[in-house]
Amino acid sequence: MDDTTLRLRSHKRVSGYPAQDQEAAANPRPHVIAQLGQSLDGRIATTSGESKYINGPHALDHLHALRASVDAVVVGVGTVCADDPLLTVRRIAGVSPARVVIDPSGRVDPNARCFAEDGVRRLVVRRRSVVAPPLPDGVEVVPMDDAPAFDPSAVLQSLVQHGFRRILVEGGPTTLSAFLEADLVDQLHVFVSPVILGAGRIGLSRKACDTLAHALRPKAQVHVFADSCSGAICGRAPAVPVRGTRLRQWRPIPPMNSTSHPEPYAPPARRIHWIMAALVILVIPLGFAMMNMDSGPTQDRLFDLHRSIGFTILCLAVIRVLIRILNPPPAPPEGMPKALWIVANSVHYALYVLIFVMPVLGWLASNAFGSAVSIFGLFTLPNIVAKNDALADLFGDWHARLGFVMTALVIMHAGAGLWHGVILRDGVLSRMWPGLSR
Ligand SMILES: NC(=O)c1ccc[n+]([C@@H]2O[C@H](COP(=O)([O-])OP(=O)(O)OC[C@H]3O[C@@H](n4cnc5c(N)ncnc54)[C@H](OP(=O)(O)O)[C@@H]3O)[C@@H](O)[C@H]2O)c1
Ligand code: HEM
Repeated sequence: MDDTTLRLRSHKRVSGYPAQDQEAAANPRPHVIAQLGQSLDGRIATTSGESKYINGPHALDHLHALRASVDAVVVGVGTVCADDPLLTVRRIAGVSPARVVIDPSGRVDPNARCFAEDGVRRLVVRRRSVVAPPLPDGVEVVPMDDAPAFDPSAVLQSLVQHGFRRILVEGGPTTLSAFLEADLVDQLHVFVSPVILGAGRIGLSRKACDTLAHALRPKAQVHVFADSCSGAICGRAPAVPVRGTRLRQWRPIPPMNSTSHPEPYAPPARRIHWIMAALVILVIPLGFAMMNMDSGPTQDRLFDLHRSIGFTILCLAVIRVLIRILNPPPAPPEGMPKALWIVANSVHYALYVLIFVMPVLGWLASNAFGSAVSIFGLFTLPNIVAKNDALADLFGDWHARLGFVMTALVIMHAGAGLWHGVILRDGVLSRMWPGLSR
C-alpha cells in the first residue's frame, strides 16, 4: 500500500504536516488537502460504485490522521449518496473536524450518517434558491449563488467565513477534480492499493494536456505502508502534534485479512452502554459495602440508594433492549477469532440477562424480607411478594451469588475492552467509544 503525497499549488517544498500551520499563518487562503484511495489502475470505485474499502487499515489510519489535522472535511453529495460515510476520526486519537457536504440541489438524505449530532459542526453548501427537505437540527446551510456549478474558490471563501482554515477535500472524484482544476489543492494524498479493478470510476480528471510538457508535475513523497509487506516492514510518517494529540508513527501491526475498518455502535447504544456501565460499576461495590457494615441509619440509607440505582438499571435495561432492536450491533470486529467472538458475545448476553435478573431478585428479596422499595425517596414500588423469611433467604442468596458472577463478568468484560483499546489498539474499544484512540 502506497501513499503518494503530492504537493500541488505552487509546488512548494515537500515536508511533513507541521508545515501546514506555518503556511496557514503566512497565507490568508485556507490550506487545502485532498485525498484519493485508488487501485493500481487508477480506479476509485468498481463499475457498481463500490469503493469501501479499496484501501487497507494503514491507509485508513492515515486518512483519519488527515481528518484530525484539519478544521473541516468536504465531500460532494455523490459520496454521501453512495457511501453514507461518517467522516469522523475513529481510528486514531484526535478531534473530528466539521463535516461539509456540497449539495447544490438539496438531494442529500437528511438521515445521512454524517449529519448525526455528535457535537461537531455539520454544514451543507447549497444553492440559495433550493427547496429541499428539512435538515436535522444544528446542520448549517451555506447558501451559494444559483450557478450550475459552484466555483470551488467561492466555496472555500464561504468556508473561511465559517471559521475553517484547513480543509480536507475527501472526495469524490467530481468534487476533488473541480478543486484540482481550480488550482486550489495544496497537497494531495493518493492511497494506491495493490488491486486492479479493470474498469470503474477514475479518481482524478482535469483538462487534457496535449503534451507531457503541459502535464501537472507536483513534487511527490512516497510512504510505503506496512500492510503491503505483511507487517514486517513499516513506512514512517512524521509524528507531529495533531490538535493536542500526536499522530502515531506508522508501525507494524498484525496482518489483517480484511481491509474494512471497525464500524461503531449507534450513538444511542453507546450512550446507554456507558450510562449503564457507570451505574453497574457503582451499584456492585455499594451492594457489597452495605452488606458488610453494621446495621443502622447509614446502612439503611445505602440500602435505599442501592435499590434505587438497581431499579434505574432495570428501567434502562428495558430501554436498552429496545435501542438494540432498533439499532442492531455492528458485525463482529474484523480479524477477531471466531472463538473469542463467541466468548465475548456470551459475556454480553449474560450481562443483558443479569441487568434484568439482578434488580428483580433484589426487589423480590426486599419485599420477602418485609422492606418496601423506595426509589430515591420519590415513590415506593408495589410489593410483588408477601413477607416470607424462607423466600427472603432464597432470593437474597441468589441475588448475592449472581452479584459475584456479575462482578466477575464485568471485570472480564471491562478488562477485555481496555485490553483491546490500550494494548492491542485494534479498534474494538472504539466501536463503543469512537472518540477514543482505538
Ligand atoms: N476512493 C475514494 O477515495 C473515494 C472517495 C470519495 C468517493 N468515492 C466514490 O466516488 C463515487 C461518487 O463520485 P461523485 O463524483 O459522484 O461524488 P462527489 O464528488 O462526492 O459528488 C459529486 C456531486 O457533488 C456536487 N458537487 C461537487 N462539487 C460541486 C461544485 N463545485 N459545484 C456544484 N456541485 C458540486 C454535485 O452534485 P449535483 O449532482 O447534485 O449537482 C456533484 O454531482 C462513489 O462511488 C464513491 O464511492 C471514492
Ligand atoms: C470500563 C468498563 C467497560 C468497558 C471498557 C466496556 C467496553 C465495551 C466494549 C468495547 C463493547 C463493544 C464490544 C464489541 O465490539 O462488540 C462493549 C459492549 C457491551 N458492554 Fe461494555 N464495557 C464496560 C462496562 C460494562 C458494564 C459494567 C456492563 C454491564 C452491564 C457492560 C455491558 C456491555 C454489553 C451488554 C455489551 C454488548 C452490547 C451489544 O452488543 O448490544 N459493559 N463494552
